[in-house]
Amino acid sequence: MQIRVLGSAAGGGFPQWNCNCPRCRDARTDKLASEWRTQSSIAVSADHENWLLVNASPDIRAQILATPELQPARGSRDSAITAVVLMDSQIDHVTGLLMLRESAYPLPIYCSERVEEDLRTGFPILEILEHYCGTRVHNLALDGQSMESPGAPGVRFTPVPLTSKAPPYSPHRADPQPGDNLGLMLEDRQTGASAFYAPGLGEMEPHLHRWMASADVLLVDGTTWTDDEMQRTVDGRKTAREMGHLPQDGPGGMIEQLRRYPRGRRILIHINNTNPILDPDSQQRARLVEEGIEVSYDGMVIDL
Ligand code: MLT
Ligand code: MN
Ligand code: ZN
Repeated sequence: MQIRVLGSAAGGGFPQWNCNCPRCRDARTDKLASEWRTQSSIAVSADHENWLLVNASPDIRAQILATPELQPARGSRDSAITAVVLMDSQIDHVTGLLMLRESAYPLPIYCSERVEEDLRTGFPILEILEHYCGTRVHNLALDGQSMESPGAPGVRFTPVPLTSKAPPYSPHRADPQPGDNLGLMLEDRQTGASAFYAPGLGEMEPHLHRWMASADVLLVDGTTWTDDEMQRTVDGRKTAREMGHLPQDGPGGMIEQLRRYPRGRRILIHINNTNPILDPDSQQRARLVEEGIEVSYDGMVIDL
């Protein structure tokens, strides 16, 4: 199985269009120009021909252009992306569906019932796509059942519900329920190799342990270094935890949590532009290196 990191940044990307936090400023100069990142999304394949897209970022057009494997050119209209799995209904994870509207066939989309409802009401992308390629929505079971998309044979995936809030435009914003936000266990049916993907992981809930302990690769929430980072750097109104993201530093933070899982690779994704780890020379990045934790980047290839 191979995972390709198409985008490694949190919502807004790096640099963010209107942000002048220290990191975004550096990204507009030589200092961090090589560290630009698009908004988070991965592609997964067992046969290197058919790819499951996990989340559809607003940057998907650039991400596909940067990944020739996704355009095999077998016909006048073609793509190696055969199905899309959605972790939530957030802008940074679903807006790319609109950019796929030229699809030659209705897009196969796997998402929870809750996310489907959001995408038919508060942010009605699925309704809009009916005027273009159309979609075939398959609801994800939340009881630990694994499934496989006929479009991407060999990649087995199991949704893992994560406690979090639905986006501001969701009709169930004030009533969080399982299915608003998911993690995903990805497994190669043939080899058994596995990865746990969770770009929005706010709380280390007990039911996650069995998945995280058995995964060969953890590709998890790397949004902020500290809980109050957004408030301190850009007058943000909310803490990382309030936004459903576990900060890396401090008691109970991601670094401490990941020490429990030393077996496989531990990689951060969905990195917010305010996060000091975006600077490879930062002391925070050095801490991650000491802990054996990797920072994903656009174009990263994970073979497993
Ligand atoms: C988040 O992960 O908290 C959201 O994606 C933020 C956003 O994109 O507005
Ligand atoms: Mn996000
Ligand atoms: Zn910034």
